[in-house]
Amino acid sequence: MTWEETIQYIRTQPQYAELVEKAYFNADLPLNVERFRQSEEFVETLNLLKHYQPNAKTILDIGSGNGISAVALALQGYKVTTVEPDASETIGAGAIRKLKVHYQLENLEIFEAFAEEIKFPACHFDIVYARQCMHHAYDLEKFIAEGSRVLKPKGLFITIRDHVIFNQQDKDWFLESHPLQKYYGGENAFTAQEYKNAMQKAGLAIKKELKFYDSVINYFPKERENVENKIDKETTIRLTSLKNKIGFFATIPFLQTIYFEYLDKKYGKIIDEKGVAGRMYSYICLKK
Ligand SMILES: C[S@@+](CC[C@H](N)C(=O)[O-])C[C@H]1O[C@@H](n2cnc3c(N)ncnc32)[C@H](O)[C@@H]1O
Repeated sequence: MTWEETIQYIRTQPQYAELVEKAYFNADLPLNVERFRQSEEFVETLNLLKHYQPNAKTILDIGSGNGISAVALALQGYKVTTVEPDASETIGAGAIRKLKVHYQLENLEIFEAFAEEIKFPACHFDIVYARQCMHHAYDLEKFIAEGSRVLKPKGLFITIRDHVIFNQQDKDWFLESHPLQKYYGGENAFTAQEYKNAMQKAGLAIKKELKFYDSVINYFPKERENVENKIDKETTIRLTSLKNKIGFFATIPFLQTIYFEYLDKKYGKIIDEKGVAGRMYSYICLKK
């Protein structure tokens, strides 16, 4: 099946209803946009855009799929350009065109292209944004090099929610676990080092590597509150157990660190991204 056929198929299957909703694959395109705009992920992304590029006006959204982010960013007032290689009205450039008409967006331009082959002039955009797309690159170095080329000096290159694997075995596990891989076979992932090497080679300074549990951007739709509550609860249990063992000395941060490292080794970390197949990372880079 193609990616479009896969999405059309899962929309008809009740067992995929939750996935369709959480991945914004609904046939009602504006509904996906509205749900995405309200997500903790998008709110946090906007905070990052404002923090790292407060005066930005132009954004290139690479691999925009059905347009949730491109439209959400345009509705925030940015002048948005999208490049999406899939032409379909279900999950590609055709869907974004429908949304452009629906929201009457004059500040949204749509192109059909792979990131590796974009034709924009150099030093053109304030921000290059790619959500869940970079891991699909057919040539990772070229994908990132082109993104960097079209970015203005000191511009922001931000990649959101890309699958990261530790080794081939981990990749096999990710591909086996992916719910849609058996239908369309188009999933992929790279190691964090592969992403970072390509970014450095493209003249990008990596400001932040947000690992899976570092940001709600990655672990959404798990809610930040749930993850933070879990950490708080487990931390309290660990501190109480340390206090029972060494009394007053349990307040000394250095001893807490040693004890926590010991427990991490013995029982595993409180929250451990190793248990999440193809866990997603996000990167914040500035062009040098
Ligand atoms: C998982 S979807 C993400 C879509 C959208 N960014 C979102 O977050 O909903 C990946 C998208 O990347 C596009 N894509 C795949 N390879 C690409 C490439 N080399 N350059 C640009 N986009 C690509 C696909 O067509 C697809 O729309």
